Amino acid sequence: MEDKKPLLEMVGISKSFPGVKALQDVNLKVHGGEVIALLGENGAGKSTLMKILSGVYKKDEGKIFIEENEVDIQGIKHAERLGITIIHQELSVLPNLTVSENIFLGNEKFDKGTRKIDKKWMRERSLSFLKQIGSNIDPDTLVKNINVGEMQMIEIAKALTKNSSIIIMDEPTTALTDVETRNLFSVIRKLREKGIAIVYISHRMDEIFEICDSITVLRDGKYVGHVETKEVTKDELITMMVGRKLEDQFPYKDVEKTKVLLKVDNISLKNRVKDVSFQVKAGEILGVAGLMGAGRTELAKTIFGDYKKSSGEIYVEGEKVNINSPKDAIEYGISYLSEDRKKEGLILGMSVRENMTISNLKSYEKGFKRLNRKIEKEEVDKYIKKLSIKTPHQEQMMKNLSGGNQQKVIIAKWLMLLPKVLIIDEPTKGIDVGAKKEIYEVLNELKSAGKAVIMISSDMPELIGVSDRVIVMHEGKLTGELNRDELTQENIMKYAVGI
Ligand SMILES: Nc1ncnc2c1ncn2[C@@H]1O[C@H](COP(=O)(O)OP(=O)(O)OP(=O)(O)O)[C@@H](O)[C@H]1O
Ligand SMILES: [Mg+2]
Repeated sequence: MEDKKPLLEMVGISKSFPGVKALQDVNLKVHGGEVIALLGENGAGKSTLMKILSGVYKKDEGKIFIEENEVDIQGIKHAERLGITIIHQELSVLPNLTVSENIFLGNEKFDKGTRKIDKKWMRERSLSFLKQIGSNIDPDTLVKNINVGEMQMIEIAKALTKNSSIIIMDEPTTALTDVETRNLFSVIRKLREKGIAIVYISHRMDEIFEICDSITVLRDGKYVGHVETKEVTKDELITMMVGRKLEDQFPYKDVEKTKVLLKVDNISLKNRVKDVSFQVKAGEILGVAGLMGAGRTELAKTIFGDYKKSSGEIYVEGEKVNINSPKDAIEYGISYLSEDRKKEGLILGMSVRENMTISNLKSYEKGFKRLNRKIEKEEVDKYIKKLSIKTPHQEQMMKNLSGGNQQKVIIAKWLMLLPKVLIIDEPTKGIDVGAKKEIYEVLNELKSAGKAVIMISSDMPELIGVSDRVIVMHEGKLTGELNRDELTQENIMKYAVGI
């Protein structure tokens, strides 16, 4: 593609925030009809670069060319006029408006005569744009009644109405099911055929190899290189990303399993969880596998007291316990880290320190009767190091951290509660490969310290790599159990589809 004229070129882009050099002399070249991946660790500067391109932030230095003409992007609207649209990871659709109202939000068409919004026109146009991407959502549906995958389609349709030639997708698949991801990919292929350029950000290597033509890698705010997908291996990419070879991506530790910490007996939640029984021992990581919708999260939330179980018993260290709320569960030493970290307990307007210690303040009061700031600060620093959280200091506002680093803060928060049993739902969603390994090491540490971990995951290599044992769910039921030496993708899938 080298001889073709690039549609977009970013040259020598730099951007600083107080205390952070987010980008230093970064380059990016994109051609029409190309899907290009932007790859890098959490905090490498991917979102910042794309926010500069889409007019959210102003660059400090560098030049941007569209079809070889230099442009000075003034803001989001200006970027849109230049044909650039960004679909942020946090979708920005409005739940109480219809699909077509969302698609034309900010670009409503008014009837010349009545000066009212021309709903019929908007509806028809929406229908045709949705059809172009193979979606058959009814434009009159209220957005609150559709799922995340469909919302993504709305964002894409919206980009098409604006005549975008460059569409940026920042981690589009994190909230999607497998089927929705397949659907998104077929839409991306259609867009590519139309000559539209896509900048695709993801931490999922398999997706990048499947859908992207080429890859630009950033590390620590700097440009590392650009490669054609078919000329690079996964290991080479990881080395470019993290700056060193990443050996043993799934560290496993064999520790002695002792007493049963948690026993779940015939637990049910209406028709979503059906008679599930299992136990987990001190020194054990129990993986929970299953397809999206198999009831794994419901099971976890039922144990944690988020949902009221319809039947069944829970035992902690042999004692029958009555858990009616998450607060009860925490008292019994059970923590649950939800997969939806953004929704659960992440306070963007507070500091990293406050976010980590807010539910744990009591332990810094013990014996001192007032907050022991020094201990609190030391603890926070310890976890910032342990999980390599990228922040200039612990008083940094949460909203200024990159997406993946916000995730790590939430993980730290739950670890600081020192649970006996940690239930962790999709622990490495949105987390880069290097940091994934750090998280597995933390889970192994918990194991060695005589705790139990229940790890719900849709990432097969992760389940196989770090679990001591895996239970598999299908349609609310437990369909299988596999010991470490029986763990293969085929075995897990067999139970996951209910054979
Ligand atoms: N508004 C801001 N104020 C201060 N620092 C910021 C701001 N936005 C981003 N940063 C910092 O700039 C760096 C790059 O962040 P960015 O969000 O671009 O990373 P990323 O590559 O998208 O990471 P992730 O994979 O975790 O989403 C990080 O250190 C981040 O904390
Ligand atoms: Mg990001």
